[in-house]
Amino acid sequence: DASDIEKGTYPHYMLKEIDEQPAVMRNIITAYQGDSGKIELDQDIREAVKNADRLYIIACGTSFHAGLVGKQLLEGIAKVPTEVHIASEFSYNMPLLSEKPLFIFISQSGETADSRSVLVQVKKLGYPTITLTNVQGSTLSREADHTLLLHAGPEIAVASTKAYTAQIAVLTLLAVDVATTKDLHHDFDVIHELSLVAQAMEVLVDQKELMEHLAHNYFETVRNAFYIGRGIDYYVCMEAALKLKEISYIQAEGFAGGELKHGTIALIEEGTPVIAIATQSHVNGSIRSNLKEVAARGANTCIISMESTAEDDDQIILPEVHEYLTPLVAAVPVQLLAYYAALQRDCDVDKPRNLAKSVTVE
Ligand code: G6P
Repeated sequence: DASDIEKGTYPHYMLKEIDEQPAVMRNIITAYQGDSGKIELDQDIREAVKNADRLYIIACGTSFHAGLVGKQLLEGIAKVPTEVHIASEFSYNMPLLSEKPLFIFISQSGETADSRSVLVQVKKLGYPTITLTNVQGSTLSREADHTLLLHAGPEIAVASTKAYTAQIAVLTLLAVDVATTKDLHHDFDVIHELSLVAQAMEVLVDQKELMEHLAHNYFETVRNAFYIGRGIDYYVCMEAALKLKEISYIQAEGFAGGELKHGTIALIEEGTPVIAIATQSHVNGSIRSNLKEVAARGANTCIISMESTAEDDDQIILPEVHEYLTPLVAAVPVQLLAYYAALQRDCDVDKPRNLAKSVTVE
C-alpha cells in the first residue's frame, strides 16, 4: 500500500524519521535563510518577541520537552525570561502573568486540544501568540497571530523524533535572531553551529549496531529505567524517558541528578538501568558522582558524553557541538535506544498501545 512506498526500505517510520534528522536540520537552515545568506525571521515575529517582557511556552508531551530546552536557549542567548507550561495544567491553573506576555505554542501537529484550549483563553485576554508547528494550515497555526514552521516533513510514527529536534532547532534560530535584533553581544554563528549538528547527527545515525547492542544490555528484561542529567541534559533525560515509555513500555523516568538522593534512589536495585547524559562541562563531575552513587547500589550504569566531557569507558560519545545544542545530538542515541528496546520486546514501534499521534480531545 501507499504507506509501504513512503517507508521505502525502512522497517518502521520511526527509524526512517530518526535518520532524516540531519536533512531536517539542513532544511531548516535553508528555509529560514534570507537573501543575505543570514537567518532572517519574519519581522512581525521579531517585533512580537521584542515587545514582550516574558515568554510563555505552552505544549504537551514531546513538544513540552522541546520547550524546556527552548527556555534554556531563549534565556541564555536572547536574555528573555521564559516559562514553560504543560497545556492541560496551564488551562485550569493559570499562573500570574507578566505585564506583556507573549505566548508560544509548540505543537508538531498543530491540532492538540489541550494546547488549543490555552490559545483560545489567552486570545480572549488579548495577548499575542505564535505557533511553532510542523503543519501549515493546522488549527493552532490558523488561530495564532504568527506561525513558525518546523520544516521536518510529515512525521508518521506516533513517537515523535524529528519534530522534537526540529522544534529545538527553530527555537535556536528564534533565540539567536532575537539576540541579534536586541544588539546583544553574542558569537553564535547559528548556521555554522546547526551545520555541525547535522554532521554530528549523521555520525550518530550510523551507530545503529552500537545502540542495538546497548539496548540489549540495558533494557532487554527490565521493568524500569532512569535517565539522569543536570541542567539542559535533565530536559533531554525527560524526553529520553518518554521515548522509552511510549514504545517499549518500560517504566522510565528522567531525573535531575542531584535530586536522586532525596528519595528516588530508594528504587535502585541490582541491575536497574541508569543512563546519565553528561554533555555539560560545568556539571560533568557532579553528574558522574551521581552515577557512581547508584552504581554502588547495583545500578547498571551508562554514560552519554561529548568528546569534550568524555572519559575512557563512556558507552556513547557524541561528536562535539555548541554547548547549547547538545540536546540535538544527545536526542539521536536515546531515540535509537528506545527503538531497539521496543523491537527486542516485540512492541509495535510505530503504533504503540493506547497512544494517538495527535490528541484532539481535552
Ligand atoms: C500526543 C503524541 C505525542 C506528542 C503530543 C503533543 O500525545 O502521542 O507524541 O508529543 O501529542 O503533540 P503535538 O502535535 O501538540 O506536538
